[in-house]
This record gives sequence, structure tokens and C-alpha cells, in this order.
Amino acid sequence: MRIVSGIQPTGNLHLGNYLGAIRNWVRMQDDAARQGGDCLFFLADLHAISMPHVPADLTANTRAMTAALIACGIDPERSTLFNQARVPAHAEMQWLLNGTARIGWLNRMTQFKDKSGKNREGASAALYTYPVLQAADVLVYRATHVPVGEDQKQHLELARDIAQKFNNDYASEDAPVFTLPDPIIPADAARIMSLRDGTAKMSKSDPSDMSRINLTDDADAMMQKVKKARTDPEPLPSEPEGLEGRAEARNLVGIYATIADIPVADVLRDFGGKGFGVFKPALGELLVEKLAPINARYVALKDDVAQLDALLNRGAEKARMLAKPTLDAAYAALGLCR
Ligand code: TYM
Repeated sequence: MRIVSGIQPTGNLHLGNYLGAIRNWVRMQDDAARQGGDCLFFLADLHAISMPHVPADLTANTRAMTAALIACGIDPERSTLFNQARVPAHAEMQWLLNGTARIGWLNRMTQFKDKSGKNREGASAALYTYPVLQAADVLVYRATHVPVGEDQKQHLELARDIAQKFNNDYASEDAPVFTLPDPIIPADAARIMSLRDGTAKMSKSDPSDMSRINLTDDADAMMQKVKKARTDPEPLPSEPEGLEGRAEARNLVGIYATIADIPVADVLRDFGGKGFGVFKPALGELLVEKLAPINARYVALKDDVAQLDALLNRGAEKARMLAKPTLDAAYAALGLCR
């Protein structure tokens, strides 16, 4: 069991990241410790340069996100925690895999279509080949399990296609270079939606900060955002089926259920028939209660630049060692002399 996953350090860690991915990272870190597996978690800073960015912000965000991950429960003693830029094997492996990835496959990636929008010609080449770097991220460690939110599923299917084609084209059946990774997507929180629009996912790139709960928000800000969240005028239904066609209500009830770790039906048993005037303060309080300890740990860690850098260096050293055997095997399989 080798668990590998990453997050872009492009802004604050928000509730979608936490419930969709990071909470699973922490749970899998504990499973891995019990089952003798290992975990690698990284800041995808190389992915972050696929969009226009401010270099100094990227440096600061990489450290801030490292502090946020530790605050959520990622333990750098038990998991290998690092940023991609400190481990050149990611970029090297991407180039090796570029020979195997097909243009037709990349053309189908919905994230590229979403992020390039109407200006495809003006998008960076990095945004286009982004999924190949993501494949390299997991394949270079022979990851078996990759905990992510629903929006990353297509990228992981591509990673599997690349691994399979590379193994077929360049490796013998009894000694494949790559392992096919399985995406691990939470059933309940695969897609946390924006607080302003129940049909758009909660995202770092949404220009409105009111659309997301950041793990770095203080209690007042969290409460305000929940109270201002868009809803409809109807009271909550008593059964989950009653949430059909009510995207915003479904999202808020789903967040409550996920964070309280109870089924949606149980939330509706308590709140069915009640209006949002009752439900929203209860949700706000629950969020504050669960996220305040994370926030406190984050605040205590975030300014210790020396410690965060030392920790990322240590993680990267280990990651470079773990990446080497697969990288060497891929160079050799392609007939590249070194
Ligand atoms: P990123 O940085 O956008 O998000 C990090 C993780 O959070 C999940 N997530 C969500 N889950 C549920 N609801 C939401 N609204 C929501 N928003 C984000 C994402 O699915 C992800 O798991 N390309 C990746 C980073 C990456 C990566 C990798 C992931 C780079 N290399 C290798 C896994 C393996 C990304 O941009 O995630």
C-alpha cells in the first residue's frame, strides 16, 4: 500500500479540499501505519505555474499550505511531506511520459477546457500537459492508492492509461515499470459546492471569498459566510429525496452530515420542517467547533519559515530516494543512455 496525493498551493485550504481530500489523507495515513504502507503528500507547486501567478505569493502559499496540512493532521514524521519543485524526478518523469501520452487523451480533459475557457490559444502549454505531470507524480512512486475529490478522477484515469500503454510498449509483462493507481474518492464529500452557487464546485479560484469556507477563517467569518450562503425559501425536507432539485440546500445539508460524520437522513430527522434560520446557525456552530482546533494549530505554525523549510527539505530528500528506482527503470526501458 503506497498512498500518494497532492494539492496546489494557490490559495487557502478550503472546506472542499478538506472534506473531499485532506481528511481522507489523514485517515489513510493512520491506516497505512497499521498496515505497514507508506504515504507521500506534496504541494503541487509545479502545477501552480500553469496559470498566471505571482512568484512571491507561490513561495508564501507553499509554506502556508504546508502549515495547513500539518494542522489538519498530516504528520511529517509518519508521512513524506514535500513540494514538487524540490524533487526533480517529477518533472523528469513528466517528460518521459510525454512520449506515451496521446494528444487525443489530453484533448478530452475537462479541467483544461474549464480553465482555458474561451482563450484556448492563449493558455499555457503547461496547462495542457498538466495531467501528464499529475500522472508522473503518482507513477514515479508506484502509488497504489490516490485519495482525491471527484474533480480529479479523470486525471487519474489518464494516469492509468499512460501507465498501461508505457508498460505495454516498453516493459515486459513480468516486469512492468509502473503500477496502476486506484483513485480513492469519498462517497459523501466527493464534491463540495460553492456557498453562492450550488451548481459550481467550491474552489480556490472563485473570485468571491464568500463562496468558500477557508480553514484559515476565524469563527466570525465562518458564521457570516454560512448565514449569507444562498438558499431557497422552503423549509428543509424530512427525507433525503426532498433535496432533489435543491442544489444549495443539498450542499449545506451534505456539509453538515459529512463534518458531523452522520448520514444525511439523520440530519434531516433533526432539521426536517425547520427553516434555514434555524439550520444555518447550527451548521455554522458545528463548523466552528470542528475547524477551530485546526485553525489554532495553523496559526501557531504558519510563521515559522525556518521550521517549515527544514521539514520540506527532509521530506524531499526522502521523496527523491523513493522516486529513483522507477525513474531509473523508465529511462532504461526507453533506451536512454545516462
Ligand atoms: P486541488 O489543489 O485543486 O485540490 C486538492 C484536493 O482537493 C479536492 N477538492 C475538492 N473535493 C471536493 N469538493 C471540492 N469542492 C473540492 N475542491 C478540491 C481535489 O479533488 C483534490 O483532491 N491537480 C490536483 C493536485 C495534484 C494531484 C496530483 C492530486 C497534482 N498532482 C497527484 C493527486 C495526485 C489539484 O489541482 O487539486
